[in-house]
Amino acid sequence: MSYEILQQTIPPSFSQGQESLQRVIDKIKGAVALSFSYQAEDVVALHFLSHCRIKSLEVFTLDTGKLFDECLALHQQTEEFFKISIKRYLPKADDVKGLEERLGDWGMRESLENRHLCCHIRKVEPLSRALSGKAAWVTGLRAAQSVTRSELKSVEYDEKFNLFKINPLAFWSEDELFSHIKKYNLPLNPLYAQGFKSIGCRPCTRAVREDEDIRAGRWWWENPEHKECGLHIKE
Ligand code: ADX
Ligand code: SF4
Repeated sequence: MSYEILQQTIPPSFSQGQESLQRVIDKIKGAVALSFSYQAEDVVALHFLSHCRIKSLEVFTLDTGKLFDECLALHQQTEEFFKISIKRYLPKADDVKGLEERLGDWGMRESLENRHLCCHIRKVEPLSRALSGKAAWVTGLRAAQSVTRSELKSVEYDEKFNLFKINPLAFWSEDELFSHIKKYNLPLNPLYAQGFKSIGCRPCTRAVREDEDIRAGRWWWENPEHKECGLHIKE
């Protein structure tokens, strides 16, 4: 493993950030994947990557079967804007059948155990298939998003999936993010204009008030330290 790459910091400015990201990408031996969740962060991460020289890039989404219609519409818009194809990874049909029999439509809200089971089947297991064979995983994670992400670095090694994890927006603020979207007229999920500050699945995401925290609308019935679906938990 190249430890030098782990020392890299990607600054929150597009030109300098893009150069640093390119230096990191140049050290990766193998395929790179971007996980795309229809949030503003992922659109900016894709904008970064569209300016990089990369031998093999896959942009993928984890289509949980519970996404908002606005996200599904943004799929095609993003493909057209960046002239790319976004690959969908679906949960296993048999697992979903069993899950629905056990939880019904809303059982994921009844306990942390149920919620984690649903996230595992619909997101984490498909993620492990998406990342299989990849050398690096690019995300739209930002340290300022939550207490669970405050230690985030630009480049990490993910022991769970055995690859480098690159977070080009690690040190971006919410203001920098939306200014960038506006400046380059990038596609934006219309849910932001409806009061959403973070966007996940339909049953587990709501709009928030102006004074509420950015992740207040995600799994709003849980404590902040539990608000991770398992994609970004190191274990
Ligand atoms: S989550 O763990 O709480 O769901 P969040 O919604 O903040 O994560 O997104 C953080 C990053 O995880 C996104 O920028 C994206 O890279 C990845 N991600 C989250 N959900 C998905 C998804 N459904 N499909 C692809 N990537 C996703
Ligand atoms: Fe299931 Fe909600 Fe997790 Fe989506 S966010 S996978 S609906 S528990």
